[in-house]
Amino acid sequence: MALSGSEMGLRYHNRVAVVTGGTKGIGEAIVRLFVKNGANVIFCSKEENAGDLEKELLESGPGTGTYVSCDVTKEDEIRRLIDVTMKTHGRVDCLINNAGWHPPEQRIDDTHAEEFLDLLKLNLIGYFLTAKYALPHLRKTQGNIINISSLVGIIGQKHAIPYVATKGAVTAMTKAMAVDESQYNVRVNSISPGNIWTPLWDELSSHSANPEAMILGGKDAQLLGRMGTAEECAKAALYLAAEGTFCTGIDLLLTGGAELNYANKNQQETRSSIYH
Ligand SMILES: NC(=O)c1ccc[n+]([C@@H]2O[C@H](COP(=O)([O-])OP(=O)(O)OC[C@H]3O[C@@H](n4cnc5c(N)ncnc54)[C@H](O)[C@@H]3O)[C@@H](O)[C@H]2O)c1
Repeated sequence: MALSGSEMGLRYHNRVAVVTGGTKGIGEAIVRLFVKNGANVIFCSKEENAGDLEKELLESGPGTGTYVSCDVTKEDEIRRLIDVTMKTHGRVDCLINNAGWHPPEQRIDDTHAEEFLDLLKLNLIGYFLTAKYALPHLRKTQGNIINISSLVGIIGQKHAIPYVATKGAVTAMTKAMAVDESQYNVRVNSISPGNIWTPLWDELSSHSANPEAMILGGKDAQLLGRMGTAEECAKAALYLAAEGTFCTGIDLLLTGGAELNYANKNQQETRSSIYH
C-alpha cells in the first residue's frame, strides 16, 4: 500500500503555497523547504529567470515549484500571480509575503518622499495586495499568511527610517489582518528576522565603506554571535504553515537574541551601522 504524505514525513504534502521573492535569499530557502515537504509552490520575482531553480525542484521534488514573473509593486501582476496559482493548482493554502528590499544607508535630510513611497509600495502595499487577492481562496482552505517582517520594525535601526517604517507597518498589519480573518479560520502571522546572511546582506555590505567591519557588526548584533541562515527562516515559516495551528497574529522573532541585553548605543558617526 502506498504511504501517505505524513507517513513519508512530509509536513506540507499536496498543499499549495505562494512565495513572493522566491528566487533568492530567504524566499528561495522557503521555496526549497516547502517543495521538500511535498508542497506545490508558485514563486515569483520581478525579473529573474528562475529556470535553473525550477528544473532543480522538478528533479528533487517531491512537491513542485513553478516560477511566475511578477513585480509585487504592480497590482495587475499580483492579480495574475494568484490567477495562475488557481489555474495551475485550484487552491491556495499558504501565502508567504517575502519580496522586499532594504536600501543602503539613508539619512532623513537626503531622503525624498518619492523614495519612501516607492519602498512602501514594495515592502508594505505589495504584501497588502497579495493578501487581498489570495484571501478569497485562503478562506476556502482555512489557510494562512506569513509576512516576512523585520526585527528593526520593533527596535529601530540607524539611517533606515523608511525601511523601519515599512516593517513596523507589516508587523502591525499582520495583527489587524489576523483579527479580521479569524472568522474564516485563516491564520495570519509574521516572522521578524534579525541579521540573516542573504544576497541582500552581501550586496549591502559590499557597497559599504568597510564591508568586513559591517559584517562583523552584523554578527555581533546577535547573542548567538552569528547571523541567521535563510534555511532557519524557512524552518520557521514551515512551522507556522504546517504545525502552528494555534498561532495567529504572532510575530515570531528569529533573531539569535539580537533584541536582548544592553549594548553600546552611543552614536558615533564613525561607527559603521548594521543591517537587520
Ligand atoms: N536578510 C536579512 O537580514 C533580513 C532581515 C530581516 C528581514 N528581511 C526581509 O526578508 C525578505 C527577504 O530578504 P532577503 O535578504 O532574502 O533579500 P534578497 O534580496 O536576497 O531576496 C529578495 C527577493 O525578493 C525579490 N524581489 C525584490 N523586489 C521585487 C519585486 N518588486 N517584485 C517581486 N520580487 C521582488 C528578489 O528578486 C529576490 O528574489 C525582505 O522582505 C527583507 O526585508 C531580511
